[in-house]
Amino acid sequence: MAELKVQGNDFMYEGSPLRIFSGSIHYFRVVPEYWRDRLLKLKACGFNTVETYVAWNVHEPEEGNFVFDGLGDIEEFIRTAGELGLHVIVRPSPYICAEWEFGGLPAWLLADTSMYLRCFDRAFLDKVDRYFDELLPRLKPLLCTNGGPIIAMQIENEYGSYGNDKQYLNYLKDGMISRGMDVLLFTSDGPEDHMLQGGMVEGVLETVNFGSRAQEAFEKLREYQPEGPLMCMEFWNGWFDHWMEEHQSRPADDVAEALDEMLREGASVNFYMFHGGTNFGFYNGANHIQRYEPTVTSYDYDTLLSESGDPTPKFYAVREILSRYTELPELELPEPIRKKAYGQVNMTEQTGLFSNLEKLAQPIHHASPLPMEKVGQSYGFILYSTRISGPRKGFELVLQDVRDRALVFADGKYRGTVERWNPAAIPLDIPAEGLKLDVLVENMGRVNYGPLMRDPKGITEGIRLGNQFLYDWTIHPLPMKDLSDLHFEPLREGEASAQEETPSFYRGLFEVSDKADTFIRLDGWEKGVVYVNGFNLGRYWEAGPQKTLYIPAPLLKDGSNELVIFELHGTSQPVVSLVDTPDLG
Ligand code: GLA
Repeated sequence: MAELKVQGNDFMYEGSPLRIFSGSIHYFRVVPEYWRDRLLKLKACGFNTVETYVAWNVHEPEEGNFVFDGLGDIEEFIRTAGELGLHVIVRPSPYICAEWEFGGLPAWLLADTSMYLRCFDRAFLDKVDRYFDELLPRLKPLLCTNGGPIIAMQIENEYGSYGNDKQYLNYLKDGMISRGMDVLLFTSDGPEDHMLQGGMVEGVLETVNFGSRAQEAFEKLREYQPEGPLMCMEFWNGWFDHWMEEHQSRPADDVAEALDEMLREGASVNFYMFHGGTNFGFYNGANHIQRYEPTVTSYDYDTLLSESGDPTPKFYAVREILSRYTELPELELPEPIRKKAYGQVNMTEQTGLFSNLEKLAQPIHHASPLPMEKVGQSYGFILYSTRISGPRKGFELVLQDVRDRALVFADGKYRGTVERWNPAAIPLDIPAEGLKLDVLVENMGRVNYGPLMRDPKGITEGIRLGNQFLYDWTIHPLPMKDLSDLHFEPLREGEASAQEETPSFYRGLFEVSDKADTFIRLDGWEKGVVYVNGFNLGRYWEAGPQKTLYIPAPLLKDGSNELVIFELHGTSQPVVSLVDTPDLG
């Protein structure tokens, strides 16, 4: 039986020492048609192992509704890696961080406001158990102990950065073992005292995560784990971007140097990331330390393969270092994936959000404006509507609290935007006959890291005019999963500008005869979401830094292709362009 074992300071596999050269690829961030291509490139770069997280919210989007196909076909991803002769490390957690919505936890957990997350709380553990009952039996035949490629699995994720509940960690460990996970189990933490103290589990191998200063990191690990193979489970060779901030990058030679230092220490390594991919749909996460910082749609991560799968200078620099530590054959890469500029696409049809509500949502009536999770919604937008009586003068509308960004309309007219990081009150005079108030809130991604992870969306407390809470709301949950019922009207010249400042859908078609990757540029558009042939590509925002969204070729078809753009603020120029190079800012 093949098994990865710890012997002294080495990993041993099938009787010989194994040095793990691993890279992260998250199957749920790459279209399945490209998994083989990305894995081939990982192997060609000199790696012998691929690592992936498992995103619970992808596999159980609604409680009890399990999804293991498409972007969620983890078994196929692992099998493909195995076919290519790669080992696989799986980090099922249940929590994964990863700049992924709510760190991979399903948003519906938040419907139970009394539940404590990531600790020994029965309510939380019952949900984890049901998920593990579905997930782990699927992984079992893929374990190396059963002839598959999975050699190791992680318990939780950097748990010491969050908590110190050993009963919880041991519960997860026992739950994995009792479900047949008889491969090497490990934890990973930052190389700091409190993190190692909080995150380590007796009898389980600890690994550390860092981006530089390997020697220092491993010295700290050694204080807590005097013997055992050294492994950096997350070598941060790039970084991610937040909206409204600068694009992040790290030079290739700096990465090569840090890698060399690590390998000189005799360590094994997992590159976080080898290939980042994309936060398609509404799956981006957010950070919240000082303030709320939502992560952009691209998860390019400035790493060895670009978001669209092309080797970067880092790929070659890393391969050169790896070749000093392991024998590598001549570099052989799969055929490059073609990129194409399909050119300008005119959005020729349009329809407003407010005139399509009944096609998009089942309204709910409630005294107060409930948060998303209380109406059974996880992602997208939510609209709160009520009437306010008049006359009233000199009051301000206050959203208490808005998560994350709201557009306010009085009698259908745009009155302003309220942002979580800039929660301005909106002055509102009410005429004698009263007015209709609409508040459209966007969930911009739940916090995935740190003490503020419990992050319900929509309006969490209430909406006030001055100090008076307003009651009697109609709520339209707008998850925007399926836009096929929208009723579009032809857009005539000059009409687009009249639609400015009202949330609208725009539709345009473009022809494809030779499918290739492309990128959509949204100059002149303000903020919204793009769908190609019904697939949600993710958010765009003029705030940047990201300026284009990646459209992988498998989302296109020969013949006519449909673009639908949901623009929150409207545009006066309903035109986009499909270009052959990304612009991440
Ligand atoms: C930590 C987490 C990862 C990821 C990185 C930053 O190490 O464990 O999931 O969030 O930070 O990219």
